[in-house]
Amino acid sequence: MTEAASRPAIVLVQGDITDQSVDAIVNAANSSLLGGGGVDGAIHRRGGPEILADCRRLRASHYGKGLPTGRAVATTAGRLPARWVIHTVGPVWQRDEDRSALLASCYRESLRVAGELGARTVAFPAISTGIYGWPLDDGARVAVRAVREAASSLPPTSVEEVRFVLFDDTAYRAFEEAVG
Ligand code: APR
Repeated sequence: MTEAASRPAIVLVQGDITDQSVDAIVNAANSSLLGGGGVDGAIHRRGGPEILADCRRLRASHYGKGLPTGRAVATTAGRLPARWVIHTVGPVWQRDEDRSALLASCYRESLRVAGELGARTVAFPAISTGIYGWPLDDGARVAVRAVREAASSLPPTSVEEVRFVLFDDTAYRAFEEAVG
């Protein structure tokens, strides 16, 4: 497997993550896994009740206390144009505490889960940069660095494309800057 093939290509798209036809769509969830606003709300609204049913099963089995920040878990994608939703919980922005490692973990753990599933294409939102208040520029830098580093720290993966789906022009430009 050549280096290029093992390194996921990073693609930037401006749009709605629930419109993306990919193998796995990553959800910016909260630890309850029971839905919310933003990306979480859109995924459950468009994906339908099977996603929540899967989330409830996960809560009842492995995650009684909720999914910890930085971790990732997969469910069905329901009616979304994807095979799986990978739910991950981003850290809430804290001015006086550097939580970048937790944010990077969301991307790395989601990629690890995607590889275990055999996903080839993975769509990510800009995790934590909405309701959780993370500044976009820094959130983009952490995201791009984490994806690039995951390529060398994770086992050879099926993931060939990482698609950052940015909801508006400001976010798109922040990721363009971060990709360099
Ligand atoms: N498609 C793509 N990006 C989106 C969409 C969408 N449909 N909706 C929102 N975004 C963008 C936001 O503009 C922001 O840049 O995704 C980024 C993440 O925003 P949030 O969805 O608010 O996620 P986050 O900041 O991680 O906060 C998570 O919000 O929805 C609740 O249940 C969720 O409690 C959790 C918290």
